[in-house]
Amino acid sequence: MKGWMGKFRVLFILGSTALVLSGCGLENLTALDPKGYGAQVSLDLIILSIVIMVFVFLVVMVIYTFVFFRFRQKKGQEDVIPKQVEGNKVLEVIWTVIPIILLLILAVPTVTATFDLAEGQPEGSDLLNVNVTGNQYWWNFSYDDLDVQTSQDLYIPTGERVYIDMKSSDVIHSFWLPSISGKMDVNPENENTMFIEAQEEGVYWGKCAELCGPSHSLMDFRVVAVSPDEFDQWVTDMKNVDPEAEPETASAQEGKQLFSDKGCISCHALGSSPTAIGPNLTSFGSRTKFAGILDPTKENLVDWIMDPESIKPGNKMTGNYKEVTEEEASKIADYLLQLEPSEITPEDAESE
Ligand code: CUA
Repeated sequence: MKGWMGKFRVLFILGSTALVLSGCGLENLTALDPKGYGAQVSLDLIILSIVIMVFVFLVVMVIYTFVFFRFRQKKGQEDVIPKQVEGNKVLEVIWTVIPIILLLILAVPTVTATFDLAEGQPEGSDLLNVNVTGNQYWWNFSYDDLDVQTSQDLYIPTGERVYIDMKSSDVIHSFWLPSISGKMDVNPENENTMFIEAQEEGVYWGKCAELCGPSHSLMDFRVVAVSPDEFDQWVTDMKNVDPEAEPETASAQEGKQLFSDKGCISCHALGSSPTAIGPNLTSFGSRTKFAGILDPTKENLVDWIMDPESIKPGNKMTGNYKEVTEEEASKIADYLLQLEPSEITPEDAESE
């Protein structure tokens, strides 16, 4: 290929790819707009290292440009051999000491932040603790102290540290929550801990950041940060869920029956019982997404129940329940979408 496209083809392709990919960010899935303590610390470090990098780049470029013009061969001097210089103690010292200083400026805050962010839950603290389990391809969140289980949506109160203990039930995953904190490996053999602290209310995207199988890229979760009062209310509501409650509509009632007849219930728990194979569905109807990536619409849910494999390859739901017709899937969907922890007002709680 001739012309400028030929010469600069690689540069052009890389440049335009970078430009296109820069549009892929999500508002609540970015380390550049921190909404939590860990994310703020990380951004400060990113800025510090970029400032140092730009400084080094500029200094090198200025010297380079100066040398380039000052010492280049001039017309009529083709045969002149310049003065040969070997070694210069002062220069050697300068370009050894400056990088050492720059590395120290970078290393001290980085190491300090690393230890700060790895802080475990202090002995005897009554701060919230959540056990996170990574599974192919979904997340389980267990609030052991509160006797509450959720999956996919992790509720936390704003303005306080929430300590999380992470373990995997199968392969290595990675818990990545860029807007609020950093990233931590979720291993099958040992427990890793970190804390998250959201400064603003909101729904934040999280992703699995370790290649863990064909549906790795679909292993998303959400962190729902609410005010401490709302969080307490949510806990109360979750504890008051009656997994046996009879749904209101006939379709949902039939769906409830199908849910056990078709074997869904053997993998999915309801209420506070821990779940082993599939996500806990107690608050399914209030989820921001399901299956990690799908909007909680009835249409999506029917598609998912009918053929989960085509949506999320390699997931464990495939083949683990009896075949359902579209009509049956629709009833099961009606049942699942009405599973919501109902608001219990303080008066309700008192009259119970
Ligand atoms: Cu789990 Cu990638």
